[in-house]
Amino acid sequence: MEEDLQNTVQSVHDYWNSHTLGFQYVTDHSIEPGTPAFFAHIRPWMNPYKFPWIMARIDQESKLLKGKHLLEIGCGMGYDSLEFLKRGVRVTATDLTPNAVAMTLRHFEVEGVQAEAVHTANALDLPFADNTFDAVWANGVLHATGDTERAIQEARRTLKPGGRAIISHFYRKPSWMWLLHRYGRENIEYKEEDPPVNEFYTDAEVLAMFHGYQVVAVAREHHRLLPVRRDGVKAALYKYGLRPAYNLLPEGLAKKYAYKVSVTAVKL
Ligand SMILES: C[S@@+](CC[C@H](N)C(=O)[O-])C[C@H]1O[C@@H](n2cnc3c(N)ncnc32)[C@H](O)[C@@H]1O
Repeated sequence: MEEDLQNTVQSVHDYWNSHTLGFQYVTDHSIEPGTPAFFAHIRPWMNPYKFPWIMARIDQESKLLKGKHLLEIGCGMGYDSLEFLKRGVRVTATDLTPNAVAMTLRHFEVEGVQAEAVHTANALDLPFADNTFDAVWANGVLHATGDTERAIQEARRTLKPGGRAIISHFYRKPSWMWLLHRYGRENIEYKEEDPPVNEFYTDAEVLAMFHGYQVVAVAREHHRLLPVRRDGVKAALYKYGLRPAYNLLPEGLAKKYAYKVSVTAVKL
């Protein structure tokens, strides 16, 4: 890997290893991380539970993948993988950072589920042979790696021909999130510091990266302003001003400014 990209991966690693996704939703700091109470405390704020359309996608994909092998890239604390496991899919869960892997292992133990494997892996250089998996799932990850196209193509390499990539790209533009970030100087992931890389792309730019795949579904999601678990003046303005006002926009117009695009594509 080129030196510049290696340096980017290192800074992405350092950021996410100290900001495992989920900790920003903790409001009761007396709860011990890694306990059943901890996973239950943040669960309503994690993707499949906060966004019913993600759970519906997990449901739908699990029906096709029962007994088959799915790779999750960038598993965070493992909530998405957990839902696949509960539905009978064989899962290898990976993340760039050891702290995410440790939380995922603990989470699976608490839930009494068994993955094929849980370990660190870099999306840009996956430690798997060509044609290994029946599906690859990456939810809000590949835009944060430093080379989104390379990550999409690495996923393709590890898929069997006919295997499914289900990739949710959270940083669509133009979108309400992009506007808030750009003009409101608002952090996206964490209050105090954002990740070193969050690449915003148009739908056309995202789709152009799926060469060697047949794209079977494209969905714009998160077109309404989302709830935030933050306090303070800015958060109050968002919660009680901008959000209710914006959410009055007609569906068609709001969808133009959706902040996520999810692509399902089959390896040719
Ligand atoms: C926004 S979080 C999403 C976590 C999880 N998918 C979820 O929805 O809860 C982004 C995740 O991508 C991981 N990540 C970033 N770069 C990566 C890379 N090159 N390879 C694998 N994972 C990476 C981070 O460590 C982090 O856990």
